[in-house]
Amino acid sequence: MRESVIDLQDVSWERDGKPIVRHVDWQVQKGEHWAVMGLNGSGKTTILNLINGYIWPTSGTVSVLGSPFGTIDLRELRKSIGWVSSSLQERLYPTSRAEHIVLSGKYATIGLYDEVEEADLQRAHELMDQLGCAHLVGRTYQTCSQGEKQKLLIARALMASPKLLILDEACNGLDFLARESLLAGITDIASRPDAPTLLLVTHHIEEILPIFSHTLMVRRGDVFAQGRSSELLQTATLSAFFETPVHIERQRDRAWLSVP
Ligand SMILES: Nc1ncnc2c1ncn2[C@@H]1O[C@H](COP(=O)(O)OP(=O)(O)OP(=O)(O)O)[C@@H](O)[C@H]1O
Ligand SMILES: [Mg+2]
Repeated sequence: MRESVIDLQDVSWERDGKPIVRHVDWQVQKGEHWAVMGLNGSGKTTILNLINGYIWPTSGTVSVLGSPFGTIDLRELRKSIGWVSSSLQERLYPTSRAEHIVLSGKYATIGLYDEVEEADLQRAHELMDQLGCAHLVGRTYQTCSQGEKQKLLIARALMASPKLLILDEACNGLDFLARESLLAGITDIASRPDAPTLLLVTHHIEEILPIFSHTLMVRRGDVFAQGRSSELLQTATLSAFFETPVHIERQRDRAWLSVP
């Protein structure tokens, strides 16, 4: 049976009488991982805020992890949703040790207040290992590079065993090697049998790894197209989407964009 992770039906959101997102129909099933693409201000973060219940649709219905909004405790639901964004980075304590940053994800707190359990510490180490940042154990957060911090934040989000993990521009500010290393970690996570459903918000087409089976393309508050990444990430579709000619080359199962 198909298991619904996200179900948006005809969702619109207006602000001061102005439509910000319009008539969004979007269904994500378990087993799929999605990339969400769109230019600045197109409505991506707004759609994520609707999914987390931080904002309420002006019209339409939202259901996440099988729970229709309006009938459930959103605080409970949010425990099953991990969200990694750069704004989170600034809220963590600079002097915390790397493994404690990861560990605090279990309690969704900033900083650690409870006694640390050995099993949890072990899990934190395992997650750091998976993301290729086990060497950071013992280091303070402030001494970690941008790429290392981003890995710690993803490990932190995984500590709560979320069913849905949202990566909002996770590769921002990373050099090409740090980015490839982070993408390899994300691929690794997605390949595990207990993997959460991943949503990757990105401006960079080449970050849409083969594991992101589907892509949602948002333009000026509308869904321009959605479906299989391999079908959408093509020269013709992307040129129409960006309203300017672009050229796509496929390499290592990823699409690379250039402007001719
Ligand atoms: N609370 C709000 N009040 C008024 N306008 C808003 C509000 N939230 C978002 N907007 C507007 O809605 C549009 C979509 O914003 P959103 O943050 O969803 O874009 P985005 O696709 O995430 O962009 P970016 O790639 O820059 O992060 C923008 O024009 C933004 O200014
Ligand atoms: Mg945004």
